[in-house]
Parts: sequence; C-alpha cells; structure tokens
Amino acid sequence: MPPRRYHLTSYGCQMNKLDSELVESKLRQRGYEAAADEASASVVLLNTCSVRQHAEDRVWSKLGKLRQRKRSEPGLVVGVLGCMAQEHKRYLLSRMPHVDLVVGPSAFGDIDATVDEAVARNAQIAATRERARTKHEVAGAGVLAVGQGVSGDAIRRDVRVRPHRSQAYVSVMRGCNMPCSYCIVPTTRGDEVSRPIADLVDEAQRLCDDGVTEITLLGQTVNAYGRDLTGQNATLARLLRALHEIPALRRLAFITSHPNFLSPDLVDALAELPKVARYLHLPAQSGSNAVLKAMRRGYTVERYLARVEQLLARAPDFELHSDFIVGYPGESASDFEATAALLRRVGFAQSYVFKYSPRPGTLAAERDDDVPEAEKERRNQVLLQIQEELTLARHQALVGRTVEVLVEGPSKVAGRLSGRTVHHRLVHFASDDLDLVGTYVPVRIREALGHSVVGERLDATAAEASAHDPVEVQRA
Ligand code: 5AD
Ligand code: SF4
Repeated sequence: MPPRRYHLTSYGCQMNKLDSELVESKLRQRGYEAAADEASASVVLLNTCSVRQHAEDRVWSKLGKLRQRKRSEPGLVVGVLGCMAQEHKRYLLSRMPHVDLVVGPSAFGDIDATVDEAVARNAQIAATRERARTKHEVAGAGVLAVGQGVSGDAIRRDVRVRPHRSQAYVSVMRGCNMPCSYCIVPTTRGDEVSRPIADLVDEAQRLCDDGVTEITLLGQTVNAYGRDLTGQNATLARLLRALHEIPALRRLAFITSHPNFLSPDLVDALAELPKVARYLHLPAQSGSNAVLKAMRRGYTVERYLARVEQLLARAPDFELHSDFIVGYPGESASDFEATAALLRRVGFAQSYVFKYSPRPGTLAAERDDDVPEAEKERRNQVLLQIQEELTLARHQALVGRTVEVLVEGPSKVAGRLSGRTVHHRLVHFASDDLDLVGTYVPVRIREALGHSVVGERLDATAAEASAHDPVEVQRA
C-alpha cells in the first residue's frame, strides 16, 4: 500500500499550533507521512479557529476549494478539527458532505484512530462509486468525534515530535471559565481543566532531556492555572518554581494571563526566578471602564494599572504585551480615546489589536454591532500606529546594547538568522551558520525597525564585557 500522506493547516492561536503537533505525532506513529504540499496529500486536515469571523471565513473558503477537489478524488479525506468543529458540527456534517471528520479540541488524543476510520470508509465509498460510475457528488464518511474521544492532555506526549530543536510549548490547562461577553472560547473549548504539576514537570523534563531549553506554558488564562485542582495547592507560581529547578531549562515563558489573577505570589515568582522570560502578555482589551464592564472583564482601568505597577515595582525589567478589541458594541469616541490613552500610559511593548467580531451565541452578540466597519478600521489603525511608535522607541533605545538571542532559524532575508530575546523581541543578524539554530548568542544591536531589530553577533568574550549594560526599564 502506498504511504498515506496527510497535510495539516493550523489557524488561530498557539494552543492550536500545539494541538496540531499532537495530531501530527499521533498520525506519524500510525504510519502516516507528512505530504510535501496539500495537493499531494490524501488526508487534508484543517485545525480551525472560531475567535473571529475572519478566521472562520478563511476555513469556509478553503472547504469550498476542497469540495471541488473531492469531486474527482472521492477517496480524499477532509477533516475539520478544533474550535469550528465544536462550534459548527451539525452544519459541517449535514451541509458539507465532502467533510469526512469533525473533531473538536477535546478529542485529539485518539485522532489517529478517527482518521483511520475515515480513510477506510472513504476507500469503500470510492470503490462503490467506481463500480456504479455515478457522477453524483460523493458523501463523506461522516465521522464525528467532537466532544467524545480522548483529550490530548490525557496522553503521554511524544516529545520528539516538535518543530523546534530548542523551543517547545506545554499546555498546562485547557478551556476557560471566564465570562467575557464577546468570547466564543469558553463554548468551543469548555471548562478549565488543569494538568497536575507532577505531569507537567515530567513532560518538561523529558523535553529538556531531548534538547529543549525554552518552554512556553500555554493556557487561555494561564495564571488561573490550578484553581480546578482542589486540594493540591497548584498555582502558576508554584508550577514556575518547580519547572525552574530543571537544570537544562534556560527560559520559561507563559501565555496568556488575565489581570485578575496576577497575584502577589505570582509577582514574587516572576521577580525571583531569573529563567522566567521578561514579558507578560496581560490583555487589557479596553481602556474604558464602561466598555470593560460591558465586556464583563472583572476589572477597572485603575485596577489594571495597579496590578501592572505592582509587577514593575518588583520586577522592573518586565515588559507588558496586550490585546485590544476596538468597536465593541456601544464603544463611543471617548471610550476609544481612553483605550488609546491606556496604551500610551502603560507603554506596551507589543499589542494585538482586533476589530470586534460578533460571535453567535455570546452575550455581546445580542447587542447591536453599532460601530460602523469603517470606524472600527480607523480605530484599529490608530492603535496600531501608537503601538508602532512605542515599539520603535523601545527598539531605538536598544541600539548599541547587547542582547542574548535564542536563534530560531534563517530569516526571510538571505544570509541572516533570526531569534528572540528574553523580552520576546525579534532580532536578525548576519550569519548563515545553521549550527547556531537553537543556541544562545550575544548580538549587539545596530538598527531599530518597526517589528524587529538588527545587529551583529559578538563572540562570547565581547559579550562578557558588555553583560553589565543596563537593561531597559519599563515605564508605567
Ligand atoms: N472579536 C474580536 N476580538 C476578539 N477576541 C476574542 N473574541 C473576540 C471577538 N469576538 C480577541 C481578544 C482576545 C484575543 C485572543 O482575541 O482580544 O484576547
Ligand atoms: Fe481560536 Fe481561540 Fe480556539 Fe485558539 S482558542 S483556536 S484563538 S477560538
């Protein structure tokens, strides 16, 4: 039998990318091979995102193209995985006959068996069609594993399957119990389920034994980690301290945090643990108290600022990253101005800005989506512009300084490598020595760009001499 080749495309967040790694490792264990491109794959999987309409539209359009392809290739297996599978399961199976399997994010643990089932059923369907020579569109296998199946977190991870030699994600919890009015994630990903500290330490240790030196912990509200593990005293602070003990680990990051769970013991851990990356992704979403209330975020701007100040008082080298939503229902011009003011005041190092997108079934979707698209776009651009200025100023302040870069791979510009600093800042430097990938190198910054900085690699002795350069300080 020829090798069965799969092609998997990921949409959406880091959690989705990690889920895709898990799916790939299961498929490879089962004898599937990665196809060079989608056209040469006999199993095409889409790991989808529902967080905004735009993310869904890309998948709907892709599914339209796959429908064409399947007319001439009835054995082709088309799978929709992830948040859209959860959200649109009935529609997908009843109205998209060319979709063979629909697997939600909590059923990836036995995805290989589910794919096998679809492959076998499709082969049968294709053979029948060949005999009957029908010209009709072929119905898919219709395999559904949305809420059933085995959770990806329940299986022992094959740590060898990962895209980067030195970097890895670790999922510490799934789901989300927060009541944010606009967000579909609690529906698609369900209740919070944290993994025990011992399991996480074991997984991290195995990753480090296999060459990983940087781990990024993932959770929708990662700093609420452990609150469902009653009686175990499991908190993110304790988890960070436990992982910090792994000798081979050099950097430890975590995303995404909720302002309400930035507890004093977490701040202590961030201040005390030198391996912890010096950035905190702490989405503010809005700078207007009226909008924050309508969003049911559970904090005010003043409280947000107080939390940030507490952190910076203890750990002044931390940088803040944020998400913002513009054009939330009822967001007035002055609400928006307040958001712009918050962005400037905190001086975020990085922000993701999203135009509000009503998600059916959420509380916010019951309200009139009353900020016109053109105005959403304008507000989006204004925030991006401010963020660009802030980022550029930080980058300019780095010129002449030396930073430690974990090299990730070749940059888009030939003859350069790229990597990240402990602040998650993108750095390019001239080199074509691929042996440097996965190592930490000192780079002296010479040029500031909008989204990255460019510098020269120093040899280790020169780096030693400049190791005492002052670190840039976050201003609140
Ligand atoms: N519309 C626009 N942005 C959204 N986000 C979540 N839901 C929506 C929505 N309905 C944004 C939030 C969140 C990020 C992952 O996506 O800013 O932090
Ligand atoms: Fe998309 Fe959110 Fe689901 Fe991630 S959790 S895939 S961002 S909807």
